[in-house]
Amino acid sequence: MSTNTVSILNMKGGVGKTTITFNLAYFLANEHNAKVLAIDFDPQANLSSGFLTYDAYQNHRRNRKVISDIFTQIEHIVGPVSQKNQKLITLEDMVVRVKNFSGGGFIDLIPSELELSSVLERTGGNNIEDRLKLILKDKKNRYNYILIDCSPTYSVLTNNCLKASDYILIPVKPDPFSARGIPLLQNKIDIHNRANTNEDQVRVLGIIFSMVDDSVRYVQSVKAELFREHSNIFSQEIRHNELYSRGLFENKSIFETNAQTTFKDNFRNFGNEFISKL
Ligand SMILES: Nc1ncnc2c1ncn2[C@@H]1O[C@H](COP(=O)(O)OP(=O)(O)OP(=O)(O)O)[C@@H](O)[C@H]1O
Ligand SMILES: [Mg+2]
Repeated sequence: MSTNTVSILNMKGGVGKTTITFNLAYFLANEHNAKVLAIDFDPQANLSSGFLTYDAYQNHRRNRKVISDIFTQIEHIVGPVSQKNQKLITLEDMVVRVKNFSGGGFIDLIPSELELSSVLERTGGNNIEDRLKLILKDKKNRYNYILIDCSPTYSVLTNNCLKASDYILIPVKPDPFSARGIPLLQNKIDIHNRANTNEDQVRVLGIIFSMVDDSVRYVQSVKAELFREHSNIFSQEIRHNELYSRGLFENKSIFETNAQTTFKDNFRNFGNEFISKL
């Protein structure tokens, strides 16, 4: 199975990264029968609470591993499985099946927790930037898509996302402040690509405008300016709708809410453009 690993990344907070990851996973699994792995790579754990009820999350925390364990228990994920190294952490230790769809698609999740933020306090450690890549290695072919919801702060977590990914999707809320983050992000990606061999390099899939409300005064002019500066902007844009927020809170994608068809079609069009760009 060919797998596309995509990080949803922008160092600007609150631009729709988690909302897009959540709804895109649903769209791909439900409408394209895809096998999807969604990875919550943000200590805020918003994606985890989007997919899991409070009880399901607590249950997972008690019995299973979460993404931060790949940093705290690295001795168990590198090196061969042996008598001495029986406790190798695998994807299976962390993954929870969130949903099966009638067409054969499904969504698996690797949840996060606040503990992931303590990774940022550490400065060293073996293969600290390679851990996400390591844990996905050899397991990728179970999935058509791996979507990584990244944290907004630039850190060693960001480098993990870059190393593990084939593509970067950049959500941008078209307001004057959000637009400023793009050159910074592009610069980090360029540095990453220069420092890495082909296999580890990433390609920017594109910029996707999110939470677009054209009735807001400056939105048209910010979009126009961004179109002048960047050639890789999705022709679709994700429109503002309150039901994205409520949906995430109630573990529902936009498709499962009572949003008007036009909003569901809007996200669907983005999803189809996403697939066509891979
Ligand atoms: N298309 C949309 N329409 C309306 N509200 C939205 C839309 N997309 C996201 N939101 C809301 O905007 C807020 C920020 O979205 P989200 O959490 O997805 O951003 P983020 O980039 O993941 O944030 P962070 O950087 O904190 O991780 C949330 O309250 C979310 O429900
Ligand atoms: Mg988020």
